[in-house]
Amino acid sequence: MSVISVVGGQWGDEGKGKIVDVLSSDVELVARYQGGANAGHTVYTEEGKIVLHQIPSGILRDNCVCILGNGMVVDPEGLYEEIRQVSKKNISIDNRLILSHNAHIVTPIHKAIDIHSEGKLKNPIGTTGKGIGPTYVDKFNRRGIRGIDLLNLEILRIKLYNRLESAIENFEIPLALKLELEEKIESYLKISEKISIYVSDVYEIIQSHLDNSQKILIEGAQGTLLDIDHGTYPYVTSSSPSTGGISTGLGLPLHRISRHIGIFKVYCTRVGEGPFPTELQDESGELLRKIGKEFGATTGRPRRCGWFDLPAAKFSVQVNGLTEIALTKLDVLDKFEKIKICTGYMINGKIQSGYSSSMCNLQEVEPIYTEFPGWRTSTVGFHHSENLPGKVKEYIRFLEESLGVPIKLISTGPARDQIIES
Ligand code: IMP
Repeated sequence: MSVISVVGGQWGDEGKGKIVDVLSSDVELVARYQGGANAGHTVYTEEGKIVLHQIPSGILRDNCVCILGNGMVVDPEGLYEEIRQVSKKNISIDNRLILSHNAHIVTPIHKAIDIHSEGKLKNPIGTTGKGIGPTYVDKFNRRGIRGIDLLNLEILRIKLYNRLESAIENFEIPLALKLELEEKIESYLKISEKISIYVSDVYEIIQSHLDNSQKILIEGAQGTLLDIDHGTYPYVTSSSPSTGGISTGLGLPLHRISRHIGIFKVYCTRVGEGPFPTELQDESGELLRKIGKEFGATTGRPRRCGWFDLPAAKFSVQVNGLTEIALTKLDVLDKFEKIKICTGYMINGKIQSGYSSSMCNLQEVEPIYTEFPGWRTSTVGFHHSENLPGKVKEYIRFLEESLGVPIKLISTGPARDQIIES
């Protein structure tokens, strides 16, 4: 079997874009199954840096056809802009991008609802403002707009104006936004027409690749701890980034997937609100942010930074059924004198048994740390694990043994070739 999934093991931004790019060099199909323009996958190629939000990172390899699956919520305007960016880098999209006709479509109304509802909340989620939550709400409320609706602009226009009216009637957005949104709808319709050429049924394509044992790579966005079911609810996204989302988000049975690769940074980051037990609000946190360039690829917000959280990572291994791990940003730790890994949680001096049971009071837990001596030498661009300094090997061995899953890839810098594969 040659189907591989790549999912985020933490709160997103683990470096999935680079790992998908590396793994897709000999893959025929790359598919995304959830989320939308809230994602930001940064890849460094020979053409320079490129940030992808909706198009799978496989588009950077001309051997790959890319699918935006039915489980996604796709913003046609964002997609159009992304296609322009990719084309500017001399990458051809022709016959290589397919938008599932069952994928749900984000409109300017959904973005306005997202921003307006965040503004009203006493405890906001800190969403990306890309209309993700409201679009999924409409999907599950069975009144969503789908890819297939882009094929008939007259019906699309009626649906958009009806949705605008109901949003105002139900106080989802203020009346004052009506005129502005009507104008946005008109330009949105023009772009939707351009995007309609990518809309198709993807079922046959996926099935024929499975039948012919062609290589498929499934690209997750966000991360397990942001999963609507398994994440730190309510501070989560509205989709299923964990592997469970693959079967509904693509119509691809899970048993056809031979490898589930979980991506973990060697430390943790989180954007937006919500509990983060190992968060560092000191110089070490600042240093991680500075060296790791931890600023959101989608919103530019500074990311919250902290030490690696083992209980959370073990939970992620189990929930996703990970068969292997890719560690990213190893080199970011090069300068640290001491490096910590959280190995457990305590509340009022009592050790907590598991991550899932701690999830509802994660705000209160105190991390228990194991400290490692820093290696204080550069690991940038290493290609072979046997050449890594002893202290690095010790750190990685500890993670591997604790997680019980082999670490098969270690990223040692942003470029494509800065990677250790074993
Ligand atoms: P939404 O997905 O825009 O609704 O945002 C919900 C939460 O998920 C917020 O805390 C966001 O910061 C977070 N989030 C959404 N997408 C990403 C991502 O790609 N990386 C990291 N955090 C994300």
